[in-house]
Amino acid sequence: MTPTTKFWAVVPAAGVGKRMNADRPKQYLELAGKTVIEHTLLRLLSAEVFAAIAVAISSEDPYWPELEVSSHHQVITAPGGKERADSVLSALSAIRDVAADEDWVLVHDAARPCLTAADIHLLINTLVNDEVGGILALSSHDTLKNVQGQTILGTLDRSHIWRALTPQMFRYGMLKNALESGQGNLAITDEASALEIQGLQPKIVEGRPDNIKITRPEDLALAQFYMGQQHD
Ligand code: C5P
Repeated sequence: MTPTTKFWAVVPAAGVGKRMNADRPKQYLELAGKTVIEHTLLRLLSAEVFAAIAVAISSEDPYWPELEVSSHHQVITAPGGKERADSVLSALSAIRDVAADEDWVLVHDAARPCLTAADIHLLINTLVNDEVGGILALSSHDTLKNVQGQTILGTLDRSHIWRALTPQMFRYGMLKNALESGQGNLAITDEASALEIQGLQPKIVEGRPDNIKITRPEDLALAQFYMGQQHD
């Protein structure tokens, strides 16, 4: 890493979150006195490593401009895209004049408000000299089944299976190229998969289990519980 290498955060926040059955996208639901996305952005800002945070927001989103954090001097708003990968690409494009190809980008879901500064620093410190980059991930404690319909076809060797979390940390140029080449490929559900398709081998860094993604209504109560337990 050269002394001028910068770190950028990209936050895809243009999803609707259908599984929440709520009256608004899940990132705007209330959690411990703030919206989910405010928690997420304040946690990224408080890590004090990012030159800026590019946030991808749907063009029909009336909630974002109402939040104070949307006008924070380190927050850049970009238009959201059809799929998560399109939103990430749009956010990367929004910083193209200020980011260098060698800079690091940490992509983090808006819907993961319990991210700790400790995990951000662990990811950065582990991967900063890596050729490719990598992701926070969790091993599985449950036995995992390969299922078709309701029938078990087999049991997976869980020692090789990890659950992909965010942030996912890659070089600006490499990530943008991989996402551009993979445009329209629905198998690209995270940044690492875009690089894997290019034949690259991202690393995993074991993250904390409290870095949950708000997906179902009960996840809000769980996130609130985890926040009350966090002291770093
Ligand atoms: O739906 P899911 O929980 O997998 O979404 C992960 C993240 O990607 C969320 O923060 C969501 O707002 C974002 N997203 C996006 N653009 C889309 C779809 C999802 O920014 N078209």
